[in-house]
Amino acid sequence: MKAVVVAPGQAGSGRLQEVPDPTRRSGEVLVRVHEIGIDGTDAEILEGQYGEAPPGDDYLIIGHESLGRVETVTDGAEDLAPGDWVVAMVRRPDPVPCRNCAAGEWDMCLNGLYTERGIKGLHGFLAEYYVEQQRYLVKLPGELAAVGVLLEPLTIAEKAVDQIQRIQSRLVWEPKRAVILGSGPVGLLAAILLRLQDLDVHVYDRAGPGPKSALVEAMGAHYIWAEKRRLGHKLANEIGPVDIIFEATGYSPLAFDAIDTVAPNGIVCLSGVSGGGRRLEVSADHLNLELVLGNRVVFGTVNANRRHFESGARHLNEIEARWPGLLPRIITARLPIEQFAEGVLRGPNDVKKVVEVAPITVSGAIDGDERT
Ligand code: BGC
Ligand code: ZN
Repeated sequence: MKAVVVAPGQAGSGRLQEVPDPTRRSGEVLVRVHEIGIDGTDAEILEGQYGEAPPGDDYLIIGHESLGRVETVTDGAEDLAPGDWVVAMVRRPDPVPCRNCAAGEWDMCLNGLYTERGIKGLHGFLAEYYVEQQRYLVKLPGELAAVGVLLEPLTIAEKAVDQIQRIQSRLVWEPKRAVILGSGPVGLLAAILLRLQDLDVHVYDRAGPGPKSALVEAMGAHYIWAEKRRLGHKLANEIGPVDIIFEATGYSPLAFDAIDTVAPNGIVCLSGVSGGGRRLEVSADHLNLELVLGNRVVFGTVNANRRHFESGARHLNEIEARWPGLLPRIITARLPIEQFAEGVLRGPNDVKKVVEVAPITVSGAIDGDERT
């Protein structure tokens, strides 16, 4: 079958090539791939900065944001049926396993020996087919197929919101306002999730007026152009006390400005990955004092587990019902597999670029699609 592979560690080694078809064991499901979203992690892997081939292979099939359709099931995988739309989870528990992986919370792995499909030690999904155990697949209703590829990035936001709620159970918590840093897919999806909870949401971003600010306004949130206003306590004086700040840019200095912006008892959630070596002079006494005297929390979050995929699938439905046509606007390009490399090039108006491996068919007579 055709697959997009890299030689991990080698910049520019990404290529489309023939690889052996995946083999199926009992309990596994063969999935035909339809769409694969490309993100910053894929960009780093293609640049040779990240990524690890499976043991015994000298290449890694990339792709971890997937949407596919069950082709065949084996014994022991009867919860799924041919034709079902599915999204695969990304991380797999470490082999030890640590206590968190043993409890199904591999997103909280303690020893770093977890694997991730398309990223770390396991082949990904940017190929014609993949094989997976049923327990790592999440079923989506056919009505959500057109936006199903957004489920994996949405789970990053789902986990963040879930963690925020759990952490804030430390106090009487009635959040009113959130600031999202960055208008990439994860930032926008987090903004939508918090809008679903009717929070006053502000998206702070550097792109400026254009399709992204229009998207923010379409969900009833406010767009703040970073070029015009600096993040910090002055901003909070203007818009009102900020209970939640969600960082989704990976530009690490913003993490410190966020501490200086968030209200007493508020929470700063960091999700952006910063692979560089940036150094910064900070007002350490001031930030320490703000954290202590304001009972503020700062925490980091990565990946997601099954319950976040399940809540994400429910929320996709709710978002479609409340803002019809909003989610499809997050997918700003669909590329043929030969043009996968364009997926990492991001213009100011791009949000999520997707590789279309096989088109999503909506009506059914011919291929037996069960959608009505
Ligand atoms: C993926 C996560 C993964 C992380 C680190 C992200 O792009 O969405 O599932 O845990 O990269 O490898
Ligand atoms: Zn673990």
